[in-house]
Amino acid sequence: MTKKTKLTLEGTTIDLPIIVGSEEEKAIDIGSLRKETGHITLDPSYANTGSCKSDITFIDGEKGILRYRGYPIEELAKKARFSEIAYLLINGELPNNNELADFSNQLTYHSLIHEDMKKFFDSYPMNAHPMGVLASTVAALSTFYPDVQQEPSNLNIIRILAKVKTLAAFSYKKSIGQPLIYPMNDLSYEDNFIRMMFAVPAEEFTVNPVVSDAIRLLLILHADHEQNCSTSTVRMVGSSNANLYISIAAGIGALWGSLHGGANQRVIEMLGMIHKSDNDYKKYIEKAKSKTSKFRLMGFGHRVYKNFDPRAKVLKESAAKLLDKLGIDDPLLDIARNLEEVALNDEFFIERNLYPNVDFYSGIMYRAIGIPTNMFTVMFALGRLPGWIAHWNEMKSDSKTRIYRPRQVYTGHTKRSFVPMDKRS
Ligand code: CMC
Repeated sequence: MTKKTKLTLEGTTIDLPIIVGSEEEKAIDIGSLRKETGHITLDPSYANTGSCKSDITFIDGEKGILRYRGYPIEELAKKARFSEIAYLLINGELPNNNELADFSNQLTYHSLIHEDMKKFFDSYPMNAHPMGVLASTVAALSTFYPDVQQEPSNLNIIRILAKVKTLAAFSYKKSIGQPLIYPMNDLSYEDNFIRMMFAVPAEEFTVNPVVSDAIRLLLILHADHEQNCSTSTVRMVGSSNANLYISIAAGIGALWGSLHGGANQRVIEMLGMIHKSDNDYKKYIEKAKSKTSKFRLMGFGHRVYKNFDPRAKVLKESAAKLLDKLGIDDPLLDIARNLEEVALNDEFFIERNLYPNVDFYSGIMYRAIGIPTNMFTVMFALGRLPGWIAHWNEMKSDSKTRIYRPRQVYTGHTKRSFVPMDKRS
């Protein structure tokens, strides 16, 4: 039986159902509030609003817990392959051997993009940001596969999963003026991507397993994060019956912002700036605390995590191991560690529960692998893709989904009459 709570507003008392999630998360269902009382709720930036029920990802921000379909992120990060995680997020269960082999084959088989799409890459300016290129080419997929306008088939899902890595690598190759490298059918998802990024025609190329494992880990850690800004965007755009590809292109746009996925690029830029200014990281801590400065410590803070970001914990350790294995000594890693230590002991950061987030150490790993700074957010998008698809599917398959349409509290002028130009002072 659904529990209820009573709400009394200006003399009217109504019963509101209490919804309890599988991890005992509690919410008040205010769906009938306006109809019964004439009030809406006001929650700018949705800090206290559940927009849906979801089976996909569980986060406990106070305890630093992140699970995909019930599986702890720490276990998945150690043992899983990215294609398994994509399958898990989209289909709800881990694949068996045959299912994974079939899924992986399809991801390889559909990696090529239509030859006509290649012409796009000649038309972008040389210094085009790869996120702009990715968003527009993903949007363009809906013109090449117009059947995605109907409810997307498995094939349409496979197509976007398989092709985004090719689009991402092509946008990089184009930006450095190198010939495009086509995917190879006998390589895994990760290795195909690495080859398309770093191989040069007519030269031998073998994928370094250390790099492959690092990419695997990074993609898995970014694969989903429940109702974040880009995922909510994908759901919102999809709720209007817009197709899957254009909904994901919108999500890529949302991810690009510096408060969201764009933060990974900004972290490395910030660490680089600190390095150039004689490693004076304390100056940047003071700047981040100053009320007169808009500067924020990039890669710090999170709307949901108020203790630690479990992804950042895994990445901090992995970044050190990766640099060690590759024999790289990156001064930015030391600066990052120093910043973290000072910030974690500073009242300003403690009071506001500001901890390193996923973007704080990921850039150090991308750099070590040889991925250029302006591609970092593309890497985030590549990882997040299965999460976006899973949420889009979940939203579409819920018979209760209506078009997402928040309300507002209007604070502008009350009614007034138009004044013609010749009568205006
Ligand atoms: N450096 C300095 N101060 C900060 C920071 C920061 N990184 N983050 C938050 N604050 C302060 C903020 O100024 C505010 O202080 P006050 O109460 O005195 O006004 C307080 O902490 C609360 O901040 P908020 O902006 O209300 O918090 P939010 O939940 O709206 O924002 C956030 C979360 C992630 C956007 C924010 O912490 C931030 O801007 N961080 C830097 C950008 C970043 O690293 N983003 C990546 C997020 S994780 C990856 C992803 O999922 O996208």
